[in-house]
Amino acid sequence: MLKNERICVIGAGKIGEAIIRGLANTSATSKNNICATTRHKETAEKQSKQLGIPVFTDNKTACKNASIIILAVKPQAMKSVIAEIRPVVSTKQLVISVAASVTASSIEDAFGKKIPVIRTMPNLACTIQCGMTGIAAGRYCSPEDLEKAMAVFNSLGRTMIVDEIHLNAVTGLSASGPAFLYIIIEALSEGGVKVGLPRETATELVAQAMYGAAKMVLTTNEHPAKLKDMVTTPAGCTIDGIMELEDGGIRHSLIKAVVKATERAKELSQQ
Ligand SMILES: NC(=O)c1ccc[n+]([C@@H]2O[C@H](COP(=O)([O-])OP(=O)(O)OC[C@H]3O[C@@H](n4cnc5c(N)ncnc54)[C@H](OP(=O)(O)O)[C@@H]3O)[C@@H](O)[C@H]2O)c1
Repeated sequence: MLKNERICVIGAGKIGEAIIRGLANTSATSKNNICATTRHKETAEKQSKQLGIPVFTDNKTACKNASIIILAVKPQAMKSVIAEIRPVVSTKQLVISVAASVTASSIEDAFGKKIPVIRTMPNLACTIQCGMTGIAAGRYCSPEDLEKAMAVFNSLGRTMIVDEIHLNAVTGLSASGPAFLYIIIEALSEGGVKVGLPRETATELVAQAMYGAAKMVLTTNEHPAKLKDMVTTPAGCTIDGIMELEDGGIRHSLIKAVVKATERAKELSQQ
């Protein structure tokens, strides 16, 4: 579906790069169909070398010939970037935003024409085609536009269509979430070190355990509590560990982390 699409990523930073790397490693499209931009010339040169695609600093030229434009700049830069590209973007092009907190309607209004806009919230695992992306269509999108956006992010992992109102929550959960999970991996790995395992061994053990646990949830569709109960033998070792976790308030901390990150996404949307 993407074979004939020319994709331009405005902002080849962390998430822009993840999308480009992810796309370049799939059969959905080829590097020849992707270009990108950055603000600084030095970053453009560095990214062009590393990613093996043309990276410009002129947003207008870069998106002129694109059929899909992915806006991957910071929320604060969105207004000025749209003002810059507005003259060359037509209603035949599809604009996909990955910016946190910036609503689809504010992007449509900034273009001042009926541009099909899709607002998304991916995460950095897109780089290894293991991403999770929430997707919400704007006012002027056709079902084909939505399909195209789904094709982009399905090639980078999983996608979920959500009401736009939930995208701040998606930001707090699956976009910020990997950071929370890395802390858990790091902390459990320290636990392994404390009980005598070499650090690298401990990290590999826990990362694969987390990967397996996540895959169990996704493939069995069982409630996580039921899967946890299966590991927890009466009077065994796991229940002792669980007691320590509950004593430390892990659930409460994790719930609060998602709530705070979501609130911050909401706050940013009001700035
Ligand atoms: N990081 C994540 O995990 C993640 C996940 C989902 C969504 N997002 C969203 O993605 C967006 C980018 O986040 P990020 O973490 O990737 O930020 P980042 O690493 O700082 O990347 C921003 C990129 O935008 C470029 N840029 C800035 N102004 C520009 C302009 N006027 N024209 C062209 N390029 C410009 C920067 O170029 P220079 O380097 O040359 O300045 C840089 O390459 C944000 O809106 C964020 O909410 C991020």
